[in-house]
Amino acid sequence: MKKIYLHPLPIRIWHWVNALSFLMLIFTGLQIRYRDMMRVMSFETSVDVHNIFGFVLIFNFFIWLLYYVISGKLKIYIPALSPRKFIEGCIRQAIYYGYGIFRGEPNPHHSTPDNKFNPMQQMAYLNIMAMFLPLQLLTGLMMWDIKGFSSWITLAGGIKIVDTVHVLIFLFFSSFLFVHIYLATLGHTATAHIKAMFTGFEEEDEHSH
Ligand code: HEM
Repeated sequence: MKKIYLHPLPIRIWHWVNALSFLMLIFTGLQIRYRDMMRVMSFETSVDVHNIFGFVLIFNFFIWLLYYVISGKLKIYIPALSPRKFIEGCIRQAIYYGYGIFRGEPNPHHSTPDNKFNPMQQMAYLNIMAMFLPLQLLTGLMMWDIKGFSSWITLAGGIKIVDTVHVLIFLFFSSFLFVHIYLATLGHTATAHIKAMFTGFEEEDEHSH
């Protein structure tokens, strides 16, 4: 086994604070929206906990952004400029996940610190970090102080639009989590990728490519 240092410390901290906050926000968000169906905590407590983790997530997002801007590594999130290369890469990766992996074939993508994500990861993570997450944080912030942000809410089309966008992105993230965790178990062992997000080091079979 060869060890590659893939995840620098700021990203590991960002990732696990992010994951914990997401779980807390999904749970308290469900409590707020469906308060008659399940009442694990009071409505007031769920709103308070939701607000606290919402601000943790906003602060944490800027840690992620700051790290990538300062380190100059944001390009690992940007797909190949040639659409042909990008689409071919996505198809190759999808065939691996849907077929090759069950035949024991090697992963067509080899992660290195400068080329960490396969094309499908680049597409998913770029959309998440540049669009879905900022939009979720912004719509959450607006609903945290409806009066203070009333002009922003009007600009966005009203509170119903803001709330609907927030709930739709919640649905997206809840589904993303299932796929993300499944894919996270597809390392050389079921826990290899997850351990790597704690230690920073990804183990790779030297003979697999
Ligand atoms: C709680 C369950 C979670 C687990 C077990 C998990 C696991 C992992 C693992 C193993 C990686 C490294 C492999 C890879 O790059 O794909 C990773 C990366 C990543 N995860 Fe998660 N994750 C979780 C939650 C989340 C959530 C809620 C988000 C929401 C935004 C997220 C976003 C990301 C991103 C953007 C990366 C790439 C980070 C980078 O290297 O810059 N993860 N995750």
